[in-house]
Amino acid sequence: MEKATGLPAPVAGQPQSARKSTSRARWEHRRVYRPQLLSVILLTFGVLTYFTTFRHIYDAYYVEKHSRHTIQAATLARCRSLHETPGPPPDFHKRKQSDRFVPGTKPVLLKNAKIWTGVNNGTEVVHGDILLEKGLIKGVGHVSRSILAEYKDDLVTVDVKNAWVTPGIVDLHSHLGDASSPELDGASGDDNSLRGPIQPWLRSLDGLNTHDASYALSIAGGVTTALVLPGSANAIGGQGFTIKLRKTPERSPSSMLLEPPFQINTSFLETSGRPRWRQMKHACGENPSRVYGYTRMDTIWAFREAYDKARQTKEAQDDYCAKALDGKWHALKDAPYPEDLQWESLVDVLRGRVKVQVHCYETVDLDDIVRLTNEFQFPIAAFHHAHEAYLVPEVLKRAYGHPPAVAMFATNARYKRESYRGSEFAPRILAQHGLPVVMKSDHPVLDSRYLLYEAQQAYVYGLPENLAIAAVTSTPAAIMGMDHRVGYVKEGWDADLVVWDSHPLALGATPKQVFIDGIPQLETPHNVRKPSSFQVTPRVPNFDKEAADAVKYEGLPPLEPRNSTRGAVLFTNVKNVFKQTVSGVEEVYAAQDNELGVALAVDGSLRCIGTHGSCVPSAVAEGAEVVDTRGGSIAPGLVTFGSQLGLEEISSEASTRDGYVYDPLLQSVPSIVGGDKAVIHASDGLQYGTRDALLAYRAGVTTAITAPSHRRFYSGLSTSFSTGALHKLAEGAVVQDINALHVSVRHFGAPSISTQIAALRHLLLEPGENAEGNWFKDVGEGKLTLVVDADSADVIATLILLKKEVEEQFGSNVKMTIAGAVEAHILAKELAEADIGVIQVPSRPFPTTWERLRIMPGRPLSEQSSLALLLAHNVTVGIGIEEAWSARNTRFDIGWAAIDAGEDISRAQAIAMGSTNVEKLLGGRVEAEDLRDMVVTSGGDILDFESKVVAVVSSRRKIVDLL
Ligand SMILES: *[C@@H]1O[C@H](CO)[C@@H](O)[C@H](O)[C@H]1NC(C)=O
Ligand SMILES: *[C@@H]1O[C@H](CO)[C@@H](O)[C@H](O)[C@H]1NC(C)=O
Ligand SMILES: *[C@@H]1O[C@H](CO)[C@@H](O)[C@H](O)[C@H]1NC(C)=O
Ligand SMILES: *[C@@H]1O[C@H](CO)[C@@H](O)[C@H](O)[C@H]1NC(C)=O
Repeated sequence: MEKATGLPAPVAGQPQSARKSTSRARWEHRRVYRPQLLSVILLTFGVLTYFTTFRHIYDAYYVEKHSRHTIQAATLARCRSLHETPGPPPDFHKRKQSDRFVPGTKPVLLKNAKIWTGVNNGTEVVHGDILLEKGLIKGVGHVSRSILAEYKDDLVTVDVKNAWVTPGIVDLHSHLGDASSPELDGASGDDNSLRGPIQPWLRSLDGLNTHDASYALSIAGGVTTALVLPGSANAIGGQGFTIKLRKTPERSPSSMLLEPPFQINTSFLETSGRPRWRQMKHACGENPSRVYGYTRMDTIWAFREAYDKARQTKEAQDDYCAKALDGKWHALKDAPYPEDLQWESLVDVLRGRVKVQVHCYETVDLDDIVRLTNEFQFPIAAFHHAHEAYLVPEVLKRAYGHPPAVAMFATNARYKRESYRGSEFAPRILAQHGLPVVMKSDHPVLDSRYLLYEAQQAYVYGLPENLAIAAVTSTPAAIMGMDHRVGYVKEGWDADLVVWDSHPLALGATPKQVFIDGIPQLETPHNVRKPSSFQVTPRVPNFDKEAADAVKYEGLPPLEPRNSTRGAVLFTNVKNVFKQTVSGVEEVYAAQDNELGVALAVDGSLRCIGTHGSCVPSAVAEGAEVVDTRGGSIAPGLVTFGSQLGLEEISSEASTRDGYVYDPLLQSVPSIVGGDKAVIHASDGLQYGTRDALLAYRAGVTTAITAPSHRRFYSGLSTSFSTGALHKLAEGAVVQDINALHVSVRHFGAPSISTQIAALRHLLLEPGENAEGNWFKDVGEGKLTLVVDADSADVIATLILLKKEVEEQFGSNVKMTIAGAVEAHILAKELAEADIGVIQVPSRPFPTTWERLRIMPGRPLSEQSSLALLLAHNVTVGIGIEEAWSARNTRFDIGWAAIDAGEDISRAQAIAMGSTNVEKLLGGRVEAEDLRDMVVTSGGDILDFESKVVAVVSSRRKIVDLL
């Protein structure tokens, strides 16, 4: 390699602009001599010309001397600045006004707040007031009268009445605006370049769509700042940019940037002075491999090759500067300062001036990147996703410079090999190792509106309270290099705050107001009054053993229920019992005063529920084992629907899945299967004992209903199975072989919606005969439930009409359910009249696609949630999930739905939405009450963060599983 010549080796693919700056310098150099010769000739002509020319010569000399001088001075300044570290200027905190202040914004005084400031490692809570002015926090705690007197009538005073206030939520990993929502061909996929694995020159800013529907939604969840990163299709995906989410008067992407690096306006930064932090996305493992047909070996070589180029440029610069700073200009022979627009950002990485954000999951990848950082000597800010980081903390600590932070999902895992060993205990384990923990959204992978929920879950599974709130505020602010202005409620920091309707770690915490740069973002916030128990830190269960097992078993702790008994079990200190009734779910027992109840299970059936006196004698007679529920609860087992749970182990690994059915709308189905009218049974593809199913079981979801995996219109017959069973032939493993018939009517591109409706009409009105049962005829005759997966209100309206058409032909009552249904609230009345039920998937809707645009967003943006509105119209409502990993979170989904609806949804109704209603809507034979699985929780009821599932009482399987 050519080195230390002072000149950079010519680099293949050097861009036009880099060459331009070189040739411009040479051209200026030549220009100096030409007028000199000319002037000698001109001298021989008259005096008038003489004077003019003399002046010209003088100018030329002046220009030469001056330009040499300026070029040298600029070079020296630049060389000196190479060692500047990024960050705010020294006088930053003397600022009186934010650079993002919008003139006309009124000063605000929030009175009587409970303020989580972020100070002292996130342990400081101040009771008092907060003054916001000129886009800044001007006072926290006690704000003196004399200061307030200065504002006179201008000051907007709000008594927040002891509400919790935190800094605005900071998302360290978002694609908001780049992978924008709703997904449209014209503007969604601007986050992944497909032009090669190494793209350090790309900038997420250049794709930032200002019309993404997510801005307002995420703000409504308290998100004020987000680092928008390029996607992970490339090993080096490009530069990320930090934005604030509020609308700006200018309406441009540039005006949304928070303290952008100076490089946005210039090819090469020539100014001296303190640079600002830059951000760079890297990715390793499956994503770049899939896109470019690379192996891991190829990807790491691509990194090394790129960093080697950057290293050469850096060394050339350092060498050049060494000479320049030594005054050895002759040795430089007028050569230009070595630089290259394509590699300049990586050179800055090597200078430690870039926050490198690395998407990396598995041990092998983490280890590769840590070696890379040591080979090329650059620090990295954070590993993102990093589902195995908790297994190898010592590897992370070996990273060059300092250990990186780890930015994670709470429970989103097992969707690919790389995330298979992910654990909900990772945040707490990493924190115990002293590594900074960040929770992130990867929006729109998770809806960043609910980023706080990720922190809440991390807290539930053992991350300390102070670190959990910091994980979405102060810690990401520090990791992106912005903690001098965001992430804290501190005097002099940006006026980005959230006023919450509960303790921020309580399930369903919702903003009452969100301030960005001192500007209130919610016009007419809708909130419910929450009980006082929501205003304090939730108590959470002890998961010490589970966390230790996660590490011991390298992410695959055994999940099968291993403590089953057919004998008697007495559950003591039970606070309440919910049971299935004809109308849904009811609370059938509630402890009176301080006397908690007991329940006795024998042979997997609850025999006795009530007071000590009523049950204990028979328990003693049966020789029962005793389980203290410490104020726990007993409720019907939950039912999950909507994902491929039971048909897959790892969703992106084909060899772990059942696979997709043929779609007769797109291809002809082989006659050996039964031809185009063959109907596939999901039960034939069931896989038992998947980790997602067992985790769901351990979280009280005892039944799953799953339809055949399909890509477009045609699905088949769903089945329901026990999530805790280990194979199909085990007792009670198949709950119901055939549940309902499923199709999807969606914008798939082709064929059209109207073609799909035509197919459905044809199948229903002219069912014909087929080999194994006339399923569509059964639907027409009202014997089998038809489940149509659809979101668009227009499609739903068409389906309501189609149902009438079929009913007229058959003289029947067709049983129809709409699944998906996020726009169903628009037709609540019509659905009720048509006796069509709804399974909303997901329970908290998000406009991923155009046909989901008209969601009812829920509080604080709308007065009601779509779930509450549908229930109010007497539509039977259930909730579902999209991905199998989230089945385990069903209990929090329904708990949240109930909290969000205030008094409008009772806890019993919420349980029904996640159990009996789902079953009913999916053609489940409504089981005799005593055939239902019952779930026993300790420490609280099944809807609470406080509780832990301790047992499943399964009369179907005639056992009690002690978990
Ligand atoms: C911050 O808090 C965590 C958890 O409460 C604790 O383990 C850690 O030692 C604290 N760090 C400092 C610097 O006090
Ligand atoms: C970029 O240029 C614009 C327009 O002149 C200016 O407002 C902005 O402050 C500049 N940004 C940076 C980071 O230099
Ligand atoms: C089974 O559960 C009972 C009751 O909680 C407990 O005492 C026992 O230790 C458990 N046995 C095993 C092997 O976990
Ligand atoms: C829903 O049902 C309840 C009870 O049957 C009834 O009182 C109420 O009027 C119904 N609501 C609507 C909107 O039909």
